[in-house]
Parts: sequence; structure tokens; C-alpha cells
Amino acid sequence: MARFIVTGGRPLHGSLRVSGAKNAALPILAACLLSDAPVALAECPELKDVGNMLSILSDLGAAYEREGGLLHIDASKADSFVMPSRISKELRSSIFTLGPLLGRFQRAVCTYPGGCEIGHRPIDLHLKGLSMLGVEITEEHGQILCDGRNMHGAEIHLDYPSVGATENIIMGAVRADGETIIHNAAREPEIVDLQRFLCSMGFFVSGAGTSDVRITGTKAPTKSVVHSVIPDRIVAGTMLCAAAIAGGEVTLNNVRPEHMASVLSKLREAGAIVLCGEHSVYLRAPDRLREVKIIETLPYPGFPTDMQAQFFALCTVAEGTSVVVENVFEGRFKHAAELARMGAMFTQKDRTAVIRGVKRLTGTQVYARDLRGGAALTIAGLVALGETTVMNAELIDRGYEGMERMLTAIGARIRREED
Ligand code: EPZ
Repeated sequence: MARFIVTGGRPLHGSLRVSGAKNAALPILAACLLSDAPVALAECPELKDVGNMLSILSDLGAAYEREGGLLHIDASKADSFVMPSRISKELRSSIFTLGPLLGRFQRAVCTYPGGCEIGHRPIDLHLKGLSMLGVEITEEHGQILCDGRNMHGAEIHLDYPSVGATENIIMGAVRADGETIIHNAAREPEIVDLQRFLCSMGFFVSGAGTSDVRITGTKAPTKSVVHSVIPDRIVAGTMLCAAAIAGGEVTLNNVRPEHMASVLSKLREAGAIVLCGEHSVYLRAPDRLREVKIIETLPYPGFPTDMQAQFFALCTVAEGTSVVVENVFEGRFKHAAELARMGAMFTQKDRTAVIRGVKRLTGTQVYARDLRGGAALTIAGLVALGETTVMNAELIDRGYEGMERMLTAIGARIRREED
């Protein structure tokens, strides 16, 4: 068990280089199963979730090694389409391997991924989309058995622009005979990065980033690939929030400001000065943060649900009253009760919180209940009087490569303790 000890009251100053995006790397790693040709990934972050995905690939027969700044993957010896249940239960993103396994073997067996800390996390849209591609799906004893020997192209309309379902259907369709069109597809930048990766492998995918994605099925590609994963817009947003809350200024390098437009707009509304370069963002905090009238989480390009907890923390010390509405996940306010223990003032009912800003929070022991909630509690500690101990900090490692090291590098007083 790990915990962060944060001492509040110090403004931040400095610059950071942002890592590659976890939510781009995970589907791209799964997509490596679609080809025997070697792949080299640059900017693939070293995170627990990435490590778990690599062990799934290894269990399926693929090989990988990190050499210098590159992660080399060789799936030529992948020989199993049965997902190891020991991991697929705990790693939600294991579901991303369904599509590639069907693309490669026309068969796939995986365990129903559990819900997680932020909600039930159903996969009905994944399964409905794959069944429209001709996959016969049976579910028994918590296992999902997929037979894709008659897979074919299809016109699919997603009921909701699900990121994972869009990615899984794309990866199942790239080797299915015929044309596939996905309507109401998710538009996240991570899907554009997956498209870029698949096309460099030799597949035919277009339209990612819009609501209509088209795939033309083709046989196994043979092109070896070197791909650089896009920067992590959520890690970047989290560090900007840290500086906004703590005071001071920060410059982020290796970012794509165009992927963060909604977040940058809300930071400006809160009174921060935000300047963008082509691959950098500079933020200077105001003397006192201002209320953010309303933040509603929505599918991209709307405000990202993965930044909701961090902004919730920011609003607790912003002058005035802010409203936060979580439209995407039903269980994503677990950080609220912990922030209340730090002196935050708000009312919360269902998916809406009305937050009245206070001058200071006070440090105490708080519990991370999920990845982004833990990040929010950590940055709240930067502005709290005294020491804040964030328990279960190992949850934060799932999405941040040493959050304590990043914050220390820009002047925060934070240390990690392990049991
Ligand atoms: C991806 O999860 C991200 N994870 C999440 O990031 C992110 O919060 C989410 O997209 C939304 O942007 C990865 O990319 C690994 P969804 P995903 O399918 O694909 C419902 C983080 O912190 N839904 O777009 O699971 C679902 O319940 C993580 O980095 C169905 O109803 O998200 C939710 O309400 C957390 N049926 C909504 O759609 C389905 O079959 C959005 O889910 C699938 C989803």
C-alpha cells in the first residue's frame, strides 16, 4: 500500500514534459495482435495499466521488450485467443483485446470485466457492435465466447459514442471482409491515434475524430511500424490544475493544446492565464481562483469526465459558487466526501454538485477511491493548511508515471511512503 504526504501552501514553479497517453497506448497495444510484423512504440508510458496489458499480450504468446525509449512488440508467435481471467477481471481495458483477437483468430474468449470504482462499466455496446459484424457471442459462467468465423463488414450505429466500443469495433472490422461504417462513433484524440497506428500497419481506416468512421477489411498486413503515442491530455490537465490550485506557474512540454480546448477554456474561466505554443502550454495562477459557473462532462470534444475530479477540487477553493455535473459515469463523485473532510463546502445530489468555494482547505488523512479522484485529492493537498495524507496512492500509479515526482519537480512538498 502506498500513500502520498503533501504539505500545502507552496506555489509551484517550473516545467514538465508530459508522457504518452495511457488511453491511446492501451488500445494500440491490443491492436499489435492484428499483425505478425514487428512494432516499436515511442512515448508508451510506464504505468500499471500498461504493464497489465503487456502481460496479457505475453500470456497470448506475444513478446515485448523496452529498449531505450522504445517498446518493441512482436506478436508473430501469438497463439491463443483465450484471455487470462486472472487479469481480465481486474483490468477493464482487457476488453480492448476482443476486437484484435477476433481480427487475428476469428475467435476470442474473455472474462466479463468487472465494474470498477467509477461505475458499472457495461460492455453491451462492444458486444452489440461485434455481433453486427457477424460475431456469434455466447456468455456463460462469466465468460464471453466469441465466434467470428463468419465476420463481415456492417453499418453500425452506436447508441452512445463509447470510446472502448468504437475502438473494439474498429479493431474487429479491419480484417473482416467488406466495408464497415460506425455512426455516432466516439471522437476522442486517442481514437485518431489508433487509426494512425492501424493505417501505418497497412489497414484501411478513415474518419476517426468524426462521428463516422469507415473501415475496409483487408488481409494480415506485413508492414513493420514505428509509432509515437500522442501526449496524455489528462496528465497535462491534471498538472495545470495543480498549478492553478497551488498558485504560481507551470510550463508543460510535449502536449497537444488542441486536444485540451475545453479544459483550457475552463481554466481561463477560473481566472488562470493560459498561453499555448504548438506543443506546449503555460499557465499562471490568479491570486484567487474564480468560480466556474458550470462544468458538464460530455463525450469529446466536451469537457472530459477524466478531468471532473481535478476541477471539483479546484472549485472547492474558487471564490463563489461552481456547479459540476457528471454525465458520463454514475459513480464518479467518490472524491467529494474526502474533500469534505478537508473542509470543502458543497451539496451533491445524484450527478450534480454545487460547490461554494472556501479560502483554504485543511490537511487530513483522505482515501483515494479511484485513479482520477486520487489525483484530485493530491492536488487539493497542495492548497490545504498543514499535511494531507492520500491513502491508496497505488491507484494513482495506474494513470500517472510518479505523480509525486512530477509535482516535486515543480516545487511541491510531497513524498511517497510505502507500507
Ligand atoms: C474510456 O473508457 C477511458 N478508458 C476512460 O478513462 C474514460 O473516462 C472514458 O473512455 C470516457 O472518456 C480508456 O480509454 C482505457 P466509454 P470506456 O465506453 O471506453 C457507457 C481513465 O481514468 N457504456 O466511453 O470504458 C459507460 O457505462 C479512464 O483514464 C455503456 O453503457 O468509456 C459510460 O457511462 C476512466 N455500454 C459511458 O458509456 C458500453 O458497452 C462512457 O463509457 C460501453 C460504455
